[in-house]
Amino acid sequence: MNLYTIVLSLIVALGGLLYGFDTAVISGTLNYIQPYFGLSEAGLGWTVSSLLFGSLAGVYLAGIIGQRWGRKPSMSAASLIFIVSALLSALSVNLWMFICARVLGGIAVGIVSTLAPVYIAEVAPARYRGMLVSFNQLAIVIGILIAFFTNYFLVNTGENNWRWMLSVMALPSVLLFVALFFVPESPRWLIERGFRDKAAAVLAKSLPAEAISAEISDIESSFRNKEKVSYRELFGAGGRKVLLIGLMLCIFQQITGINTIMYYAPKIFSMNGYSGDVALLQTVIIGILNLVSTLAAILVVDKAGRKPLLLVGSLGMGISLLSLSVLYHLGLQGGTGVLIAILCYISFFSLSLGPVIWVVVSEIFPNRIRSLGMSVAMIGLYVANILVTTSFPVMLTALSGETTFFIFFVICICCFFYVMKYVPETKGKSLEELEELLKK
Ligand code: BGC
Repeated sequence: MNLYTIVLSLIVALGGLLYGFDTAVISGTLNYIQPYFGLSEAGLGWTVSSLLFGSLAGVYLAGIIGQRWGRKPSMSAASLIFIVSALLSALSVNLWMFICARVLGGIAVGIVSTLAPVYIAEVAPARYRGMLVSFNQLAIVIGILIAFFTNYFLVNTGENNWRWMLSVMALPSVLLFVALFFVPESPRWLIERGFRDKAAAVLAKSLPAEAISAEISDIESSFRNKEKVSYRELFGAGGRKVLLIGLMLCIFQQITGINTIMYYAPKIFSMNGYSGDVALLQTVIIGILNLVSTLAAILVVDKAGRKPLLLVGSLGMGISLLSLSVLYHLGLQGGTGVLIAILCYISFFSLSLGPVIWVVVSEIFPNRIRSLGMSVAMIGLYVANILVTTSFPVMLTALSGETTFFIFFVICICCFFYVMKYVPETKGKSLEELEELLKK
């Protein structure tokens, strides 16, 4: 595989890093912002999910500006918004300022989390597309791990610790902004807009000269139908089937409960009797395992295929959640059993639903409606995430850990059967071949 494509994918995946960091950093601040802003459990749920409301707007915007301005300028705009959000949230003097800053950060999260995987899928050769798009998930989990680490290191910096935790995000945002200057626009977008020569120049860096014109005509023929890309097309006969698969996968990725752990682990651990910094240390362990299993997924996704990973993963997640529920039932929530069950759950997620959803969703849409389709699927992802994130603190106190985790277990099993019945295998096919295949 060509080094240039790898470097491009890595740079763009920095967007994923910001997504991971910005969403997870909040976990370490909870025990401090809750008293500072005087928040109830429900208020806490809403504050944590404020970012996700911004993401919804960001995802919607991504569909429009990604199509109109191109993938690259849209991501540059998002990196600027990230910088502003990091500074504003760190300097917040009241809850409204804090929420506005987080909503702003969410807009940027929505834009990059939609366009980074689209961009990577569009520049990647078919054989390695799964691996390259998974770089995005790798970056997300590295972002999460950095947030967990910096939270842990900054926890003892006094009453402004949460401000320091939040301000760290400005650094990778600046990095993304600068790095994007070295990235060309996606050749598929360029071709759609009629910039054939520019697209050829970009493709020349990753393909042998004799393959370029065939690739261009392949891409062009997928845009054959020239009328404006519209929601009608996406929801019509051509798009409906893949849209439903994309949406369901994104929703399952969230309602199987991953962010109950990613955003609330320190809270779960402190509710179970651990002190603030031990809770944050346990969270760091979760972040490390998340990274290791994601690496494993990247190595196998193009060989084993997407579907087997999704099946093994959802089953393993289900079993881990069932164990967690049983531990709560037995009154063992203060022991290491809970940590072990959570670690198993995270490993299965990172091997499957974590990276693979991004891969499949970035591949299944036809070229003409990819960024629009991605953005609708992402809206499903964020709405599902909001539901889980706002309700979790309340569920945990009102329903107990036992019932809460049991509910997530049942959802994992539903996910298993959905994947088995409806999700197509996409490994090893070019985006244009997939387009033909999924038409049937
Ligand atoms: C999900 C995030 C989650 C992360 C955890 C991503 O694929 O979209 O919601 O926090 O994985 O690793």
